[in-house]
Amino acid sequence: MSHGIVLSVSGKGGVGKTTFTALLIRELIGLGKYEVLAIDADPSMNLSTVLGCRVGETVGDLVDRLSRETDSEEIDATLEQMIWEIVAENRAFDLLSMGFTEREGCYCTVNRVLARIIDSLTMLYDIVLIDAEAGLEHISRRTDRDVDAFFIITDPSKMGFLTVSRIIDLTKKLHINFKDIYLVGNRFPKNAEEMLYNFAKEIGVQCVASLPLDENISRFNLLGKSILELPENSAIIAPLKNIVKNYIQPLL
Ligand SMILES: Nc1ncnc2c1ncn2[C@@H]1O[C@H](COP(=O)(O)OP(=O)(O)OP(=O)(O)O)[C@@H](O)[C@H]1O
Ligand SMILES: [Mg+2]
Repeated sequence: MSHGIVLSVSGKGGVGKTTFTALLIRELIGLGKYEVLAIDADPSMNLSTVLGCRVGETVGDLVDRLSRETDSEEIDATLEQMIWEIVAENRAFDLLSMGFTEREGCYCTVNRVLARIIDSLTMLYDIVLIDAEAGLEHISRRTDRDVDAFFIITDPSKMGFLTVSRIIDLTKKLHINFKDIYLVGNRFPKNAEEMLYNFAKEIGVQCVASLPLDENISRFNLLGKSILELPENSAIIAPLKNIVKNYIQPLL
């Protein structure tokens, strides 16, 4: 059976990970030839909001329900079967919300579940996109083990750059070999682009885009409109198409 690809998006809090993931989904489903699964792996579940999708039962809810109803030894097997029932089918793509568990009040459990099921998911979809939570935990939990293209987003700030360096260091320390690691600048004014590309060179990572601040995104966000409906002439769309064409489609 052929294997789909896994794309994962990480970076400092608030740099635009969820927006970038939603925009990739918009582009990829627009091509009309790929089976796409979006995984909202951030417990605050912003991806569904940005996409304008309803959240049903999450993996965390499912774990909680099974913990009440099933013997602990059986949970894992049952869980893997039942995950398919909570994948929300939208018009052009599917969405799986990881959520978090009641008991632990954290997402360690759901991250472990994700690490376990990711391989089976790639059997059913051409593209699996993961919107990770901010920070580094998902890397140390190895949720990203099977990732084909690992996008790290930064905004024009020292903290954004530092987080990128820390993420790269951690992947090296843990010997995680992503097939491709790409740096993406978001909300970059033209006059800061040189710093972004110099930084990429310094850390030995390819920078694939410097995305502008896009007024349509700000407006859509304020009005609660789905990013999927962002107009084609928005400033951010051309560089995004370029990423899809040159760095994602060749993997498919
Ligand atoms: N290029 C852009 N132009 C305009 N607004 C943007 C752009 N990118 C992101 N934003 C806005 O910045 C805010 C943060 O973006 P987003 O939620 O995507 O970041 P995040 O990295 O996913 O945050 P978190 O760490 O909380 O998950 C949102 O209000 C979003 O609409
Ligand atoms: Mg987010």
